Amino acid sequence: MDKFLIKGPVQLKGEVYISGSKNSALPILFASLLTTELIEIKNIPKIKDVDITIKLLLNLGVTIKRGKSLIIKANNLNSHCILSKKLIKSIRASIWLLSTLLVRFKKIKMYLPGGCSIGKRPIDLHIKNLKKLGAKINIKNDFIIASINNQFKGTHIFIKKSSVGATINSILAAVYAKNITIIENAAKEPEIQDLIKFLNIIGANIKVEGTNKIIITGIKKLSGGVYTIMSDRIETGTFLIAAAISKGKIICKNTNPKYLNTLLKKLMYMGAIIKIGKNWCSLDMTNKRPKAVNIITGPYPNFPTDIQPQFTLLNCIALGKSIVTETIFENRFIYIYELIKMGANLFIKNNQVFCKGVNILYGTKIQATDLRAAISLVLAGCIAKGITIISDINHIDRGYENIENKLINLGAKIIRIKN
Ligand code: EPZ
Repeated sequence: MDKFLIKGPVQLKGEVYISGSKNSALPILFASLLTTELIEIKNIPKIKDVDITIKLLLNLGVTIKRGKSLIIKANNLNSHCILSKKLIKSIRASIWLLSTLLVRFKKIKMYLPGGCSIGKRPIDLHIKNLKKLGAKINIKNDFIIASINNQFKGTHIFIKKSSVGATINSILAAVYAKNITIIENAAKEPEIQDLIKFLNIIGANIKVEGTNKIIITGIKKLSGGVYTIMSDRIETGTFLIAAAISKGKIICKNTNPKYLNTLLKKLMYMGAIIKIGKNWCSLDMTNKRPKAVNIITGPYPNFPTDIQPQFTLLNCIALGKSIVTETIFENRFIYIYELIKMGANLFIKNNQVFCKGVNILYGTKIQATDLRAAISLVLAGCIAKGITIISDINHIDRGYENIENKLINLGAKIIRIKN
């Protein structure tokens, strides 16, 4: 795994162009298995999780032309292909092969998925919903063995706990299901809305009622089409915080700030001047130190768990005390011990981190453990005094396109040491 060598402190300021959303690209790429017609998907980020997804699709016999956009045709799949354990286990998103390949092959045997080590990541809600839609599913020795009797059957689903992944698997299974499927208490993340928009453009019949009810009328055949995925709201929030921790000023372009209301409000409480436009947003700390503020993560539209590590860093150097409460993943504080090595004044109690803002962090040797922890530690290295060496930095390549150049353009002093 590569390392980053970072020299601080620097002030991060300037302009950044936000890439396409990882968590929108991944479900849409797996959803492309549902049609045999040609589709073109634009604004796909060049990140490792997308590379792995493309390899899985190619494994299955999908033809993919990768240029400025992705041209995909899944008309000639190989139902006997052995899906690579390494690829399946390297991303959580591979779980969406379950619904899509049941639709295409009527049966599947695949390894249990992987994903960041931020929690147990069970799939009980996925299994429960797909069984309700008519699938027979067993989990045996690290494998999911599943089949359907020709077609999923429309039904009424209530997802007892907000789950992005389980909501997506239920939608993908229901697109061709017999009759109507109603999903209640569906997750409302913008990336799910992006998937629904894509599916409807290629001929699905999906309606969103109120905020968390999805009605899917089964159709016979999807067509082809062209779709541009949304920008990455988590990357946007990450760069706003990059400016805030260094008392800097930033404008994020090619992004829709309406998906970040909760974060923007918190940043304003801290003293940031926030401006927003149709496809941009800016933050200016006016060279002032931010004031500490409490956050509680939760399903959209609450504070996004994927921005929790970055915001905790902000509280580490803010004025005053604060509490960060993580309600989604049970193991998303591993990076805290690395920040403490840098001089942060933090302690963990159950699912909360108690922060007392310090004036300065010090560069040292630290280790990245997952995607969002990695970016938080990189930002810590940018503002710490001295040299920070972060090992296992490849975690960051899973979800941030061209990250070191984007940060260098904002004033960061980073070099990647290839391992
Ligand atoms: C998606 O993960 C995202 N990943 C995560 O982003 C994001 O943090 C998460 O949604 C929450 O917003 C992708 O989209 C690829 P969940 P997912 O199902 O679908 C529990 C990032 O950094 N649960 O909404 O795995 C689960 O353990 C990544 O970009 C069950 O108990 O999340 C968690 O506590 C990290 N049973 C909670 O629900 C299940 O069957 C929410 O998980 C499924 C989930």
